[in-house]
Amino acid sequence: MCYEPAAQGNTILTHSDHLADHLVDRPAAEPTPLEARKGASLAGRVRVPGDKSISHRALILGALAVGETRISGLLEGEDVLNTAKAMRALGARVERTGEFAWSVRGVGVSGFAQPEAPLDFGNSGTGCRLVMGAVAGCPIVATFDGDASLRSRPMRRVLDPLELVGARVSDSKDGGRLPLTLAGARDPLPILYRTPVASAQIKSAVLLAGLSAPGITTVIETEASRDHTELMLKHFGATIVTQKEGSHGRRISLTGQPELRGAEVVVPADPSSAAFPLVAALIVAGSDIVLSDVMTNPLRTGLFTTLREMGASIEQSDTRGDAGEPMAQLRVRASKLHGVEVPPERAPSMIDEYLVLAVAAAFAEGTTIMRGLQELRVKESDRLEATATMLRVNGVEVEIVGNDMIVKGRGHVPGGGLVATHMDHRIAMSALVMGTASDRPVKVDDTAFIATSFPDFIPMMRSLGAEFV
Ligand code: S3P
Repeated sequence: MCYEPAAQGNTILTHSDHLADHLVDRPAAEPTPLEARKGASLAGRVRVPGDKSISHRALILGALAVGETRISGLLEGEDVLNTAKAMRALGARVERTGEFAWSVRGVGVSGFAQPEAPLDFGNSGTGCRLVMGAVAGCPIVATFDGDASLRSRPMRRVLDPLELVGARVSDSKDGGRLPLTLAGARDPLPILYRTPVASAQIKSAVLLAGLSAPGITTVIETEASRDHTELMLKHFGATIVTQKEGSHGRRISLTGQPELRGAEVVVPADPSSAAFPLVAALIVAGSDIVLSDVMTNPLRTGLFTTLREMGASIEQSDTRGDAGEPMAQLRVRASKLHGVEVPPERAPSMIDEYLVLAVAAAFAEGTTIMRGLQELRVKESDRLEATATMLRVNGVEVEIVGNDMIVKGRGHVPGGGLVATHMDHRIAMSALVMGTASDRPVKVDDTAFIATSFPDFIPMMRSLGAEFV
């Protein structure tokens, strides 16, 4: 069985305007609950959608480059489409040329135009924070906004370094929250910045602002975070040097004011999305599935390492690379899992995957301890609390001790719970994955936010055999 995803959820859209414009003034839809039930084994081959991090970056760097950037495999989820709209509002020509194929004609480094209306990033912290960085180096004023989840998330972590570059913030809500207005620097300064937390969003915002500054902008991180911005900047022609810093960190130096040239970008499948069918295949007895073209950048594969330590059968083959990003095919077979301890230094390489790892841990035999999860509190929701609640309402014993989460696996999950999504796509998908193997069904209150990152999740999981009703 092979599943070919539709262009955008249930709707086939044939033109970029449709895709970008159907997000404008989207009426508040009724919640769409869904229940997952234990069914037969999962089987088949799927390619999950393009990587979200790389999709945002391809649009942003394309908009800052001279000439045309052709992107294939772009994630056509709401988060990325909001970034596409923002790039248009800032003066780039952004067009959908085919299924998952987009063309961007950029304005050049520092060339953004003043947007006429506030930039609305919906649910996306990555889109918002990266574009703040790109705007901070341009002599324009832009207002940034988002949905209730994004409005509750901290922006100071990005605004602090951008103010050092010379940008000015006004009208922000309590402690730098959205909506806020950012005036980019007329004469941006190259800075040396030590990120206070391992965050690719902070690092990327500083580097994107540094594109406009004369001289060398340096970011130092004590724990290495995903390096897609660095790899893609190189691909677009920038000079960027990465050195080791301490035992787990990196020092990244970018030479400012490069001429970025439009490039071809092939977006590999998103390992953070692949995580959902992957864990489902591990916990549903007798399953055997293949995931194609999954990105295997080592700064994103902490989940695969952890699951293998737990006894998961994940076979990797056909490893290859494109634009500096490796990808491979993964064959996943149902496995007997056991509890493990996940060290805190692994967190940056699997920060979005702890929810679904907690589901795998609940089906394992024995205790799994996940350490150093403080960053989970400031994601699309407070994921530490939300994950614990998701498990508890389904009969799993779980504890939060400081920043650690401890899951007591008993080899099976009672289920029967209703899970609150909290405007968070990954809670909805993790809960539905849990329901594919739990004794009783698991229900989620709203599936709408799944469209931010994985519009085809429901039909794709059904194509593998999952019972979603
Ligand atoms: C992302 C970085 C991570 C991650 C997010 C995507 C990126 O956030 O959680 O989903 O594309 O740079 P932080 O940088 O805040 O850890």
